[in-house]
Amino acid sequence: MSYETILVETRGAVTLITLNRPKALNALNSQVCAELVEAFAAFEADDTQGCAVLTGSGDKAFAAGADIKEMAEKPAADFFLGDFFADWQARIVRATRKPWIAAVNGFALGGGCELAMMADFILAADTAKFGQPEIKLGVAPGMGGSQRLTRAVGKAKAMEMCLTGRMMGAEEAERSGLVARIVPLADLVEDAVKTAQTIAGMPRMAAMVNKEMVNIAFETGLEQGLLTERRLFQILTATQDKAEGMAAFVEKRQAVWKGR
Ligand code: CAA
Repeated sequence: MSYETILVETRGAVTLITLNRPKALNALNSQVCAELVEAFAAFEADDTQGCAVLTGSGDKAFAAGADIKEMAEKPAADFFLGDFFADWQARIVRATRKPWIAAVNGFALGGGCELAMMADFILAADTAKFGQPEIKLGVAPGMGGSQRLTRAVGKAKAMEMCLTGRMMGAEEAERSGLVARIVPLADLVEDAVKTAQTIAGMPRMAAMVNKEMVNIAFETGLEQGLLTERRLFQILTATQDKAEGMAAFVEKRQAVWKGR
């Protein structure tokens, strides 16, 4: 598959996807949207791949949002009838059961911040800046910003950011629970790939189940979440990798995973 707006490469069991419109600060136009869906579907379908990293090209931006130039002339009916950005929730967030990391290398604004928050976790460069400035364009977040940012950082900060459009730097983002870790910009991609390789080296089904469990905590009540966790844990005990992992521990040797 060849792409024009993104770069896709594999590093062992890790797929590295790079948004590649640096002159437009990696703004998310409809071609980027379609190509990302394809790239994530290919990653998910490839058994040799265990984890993905999404980053932006250049030092300045992960993505500065949905493409404003493309949206400027678009009639409201097109947004509504095309169900603008519904695709990513269904075909990236829901359809990608393997873990993936956003490596945020600069501005992550509007749809860029929302895309980063779709990842299983965010690693931020020390230069990263997050924001939902849509209000300054006469609109509001449209790809999950009002929901995921609020869940990540709480109502007070999310409300302030959405209402003023102010940006949050990497340190504040880490302090607020939006990002897992801060990494110097120069090391960001290598660190993210290394982290992804660690995850890809884990027993595959256990990695997918761990991801599902943590996501369930965002979407359900405690009693239901605990029940689901117990059942998923119990199901994992039937895997070959559970037998191998526990035998390897007892026998004091490295486990050899089968991914089943
Ligand atoms: N869409 C299209 N083009 C964009 C863009 C965007 N979101 N963000 C930046 N660009 C383009 C600029 O137009 C400029 O292109 P030209 O050289 O052709 O003029 C180029 O990228 C560089 O940008 P700037 O000259 O503005 O760079 P800067 O360093 O002065 O400012 C910035 C950087 C603060 C990020 C500024 O570019 C900016 O505010 N961008 C828009 C951010 C924004 O409002 N994002 C939300 C979009 S709406 C959305 O995402 C909707 C949704 O939730 C679904």
